[in-house]
Amino acid sequence: MSTDFHRFSQICAELHRKIICENQRRSADFFIFAAQMRYEVCGITSTLTSHTSYLTPHTSFFMIKDILKTPEKFGIGSQVEVKGWVRTKRGNNAVAFIALNDGSIVHNIQVVADLANFSEDIMKQITTGACLRVVGKLVASQGQGQAVEIQAETIEIYGTADPEVYPLQKKGHSMEFLREIAHLRPRTNYFGCVLRLRHALSYAIHTYFNNHGYFYMHTPIITGSDAEGAGAMFNVTTLDLNNLPKNSEGDIDFAQDFFGKHTSLTVSGQLEGELGAMALGRIYTFGPTFRAENSNTPRHLAEFWMIEPEVAFFDITDNMNLAEDFIKFLVNYVLEHNRDDIQFLNDMFDKELIERLRFVIDNEFVRLTYTEAIEILKASGKKFEYKVEWGVDLQSEHERYLVENHFKKPVILTDYPKAIKAFYMKQNEDGKTVRAMDVLFPKIGEIIGGSEREADYNKLLNRIHELNIPEKDVWWYLETRKFGTAPHAGFGLGFERMMLFITGMGNIRDVIPFPRTPQNAEF
Ligand code: 4AD
Ligand code: MG
Repeated sequence: MSTDFHRFSQICAELHRKIICENQRRSADFFIFAAQMRYEVCGITSTLTSHTSYLTPHTSFFMIKDILKTPEKFGIGSQVEVKGWVRTKRGNNAVAFIALNDGSIVHNIQVVADLANFSEDIMKQITTGACLRVVGKLVASQGQGQAVEIQAETIEIYGTADPEVYPLQKKGHSMEFLREIAHLRPRTNYFGCVLRLRHALSYAIHTYFNNHGYFYMHTPIITGSDAEGAGAMFNVTTLDLNNLPKNSEGDIDFAQDFFGKHTSLTVSGQLEGELGAMALGRIYTFGPTFRAENSNTPRHLAEFWMIEPEVAFFDITDNMNLAEDFIKFLVNYVLEHNRDDIQFLNDMFDKELIERLRFVIDNEFVRLTYTEAIEILKASGKKFEYKVEWGVDLQSEHERYLVENHFKKPVILTDYPKAIKAFYMKQNEDGKTVRAMDVLFPKIGEIIGGSEREADYNKLLNRIHELNIPEKDVWWYLETRKFGTAPHAGFGLGFERMMLFITGMGNIRDVIPFPRTPQNAEF
């Protein structure tokens, strides 16, 4: 079967090349047809999911992942074509071993080049970082570490990488150094894993919500209100900063600005998300959010991605159940679908990673109130940098003590003092606390923040007045409580905090392609 398939692929590829010169449009049509034929030849139907990518219909070359994972689909002795970047080249006077990586998988395919068949000039250009196209025979590997390798017949050099200046030469660069070359770090094994995991995690998030009847809602990134109070905001303006218009009071006249008012980048999609939940029942947002605090910590970014489900008719307990089930699904998903990446990170960086991931899936999260947590922290006898007292906002050191030392399990804290939480949280009968919930994780601290929402119009309005929030900024939000109000709840999961957990990494700058932090917006 595989030989038939291979021969057929070759014919298709050849035809494709001819047709493409003639007519671009027709070739596209033809190739869809050809791809279907290839499926039939292989007797494979509906294999084109995100995780079985062989038979990529629009190419004549193959992904290294597919060759390494399912060599039997290609057949030993068949001709294959791959394209990728050289990781290493070694060898002797007779033969060169080239480790080629195309990003589809953490592993490289070994290309064996018999020096008798290639000019010295070609071989000289094959250095770490160079980009190649290789056509050759798939053979069982003699060496250790791989089942198959390619005996090169043709090597075409797409791009060289001068070893004198290409920065990714030797192994084991520090994370700090790699941040300085964020434009090239996707070519490292480590960062390849991160980028594949970011993709898989995003896909899993959409899968989870889609499977549970949630609708993906796109909330605005530019906002005219700062009601959330989640942190300092970045201004959005087209005014001439060297010549700002002033109004009669001497303040900047934002009436002359692009939107006719002062606007910023959003800190959260929640408030608009709630409007969606009050119509569609279950929604979630998944987008970039921005916070301009000057917090230079390993857990804070100025630009990060947040997932915010918002659910009509959910109370705080439903909300906690959703958060726990959702996180466990995500961890399970990457363990199942990204085993190579996780195993690599486990072996190379964090020997306890897989154990920690399994631990989260296998254990129920501990649930207790903020007040109970304060008692535990006070009784702990531990000297914290920030003093613990009822009413203080918990610091990461407190959160991690509860998770890592006291309970040794993920923790969900509820019922925080209302003074340290946002205006929209449902007020408890005691008049002091609100139905907030934070999910706390090992090594990270807060990974999720959320609450049941205040559904009572008058209580919400009073709170808005108490906090001096201008009613004109939130009139539309208040109207959801005026017209057909309903109990509802939701939360925000920081995507990069989740990535920190999944990769076991210590610094949030190393789990996002191009981190935005104070004094840093390169790339
Ligand atoms: O707790 P936060 O501020 O909650 C909200 O924004 C609510 N509107 C969410 C909701 O109820 N819909 O942020 C939610 C999560 C945090 O738990 C944390 O994981 C992440 O967002 N987060 C950050 N991640 C990276 N860098 C920062 N500066 C972050 N600030 C918050
Ligand atoms: Mg929070």
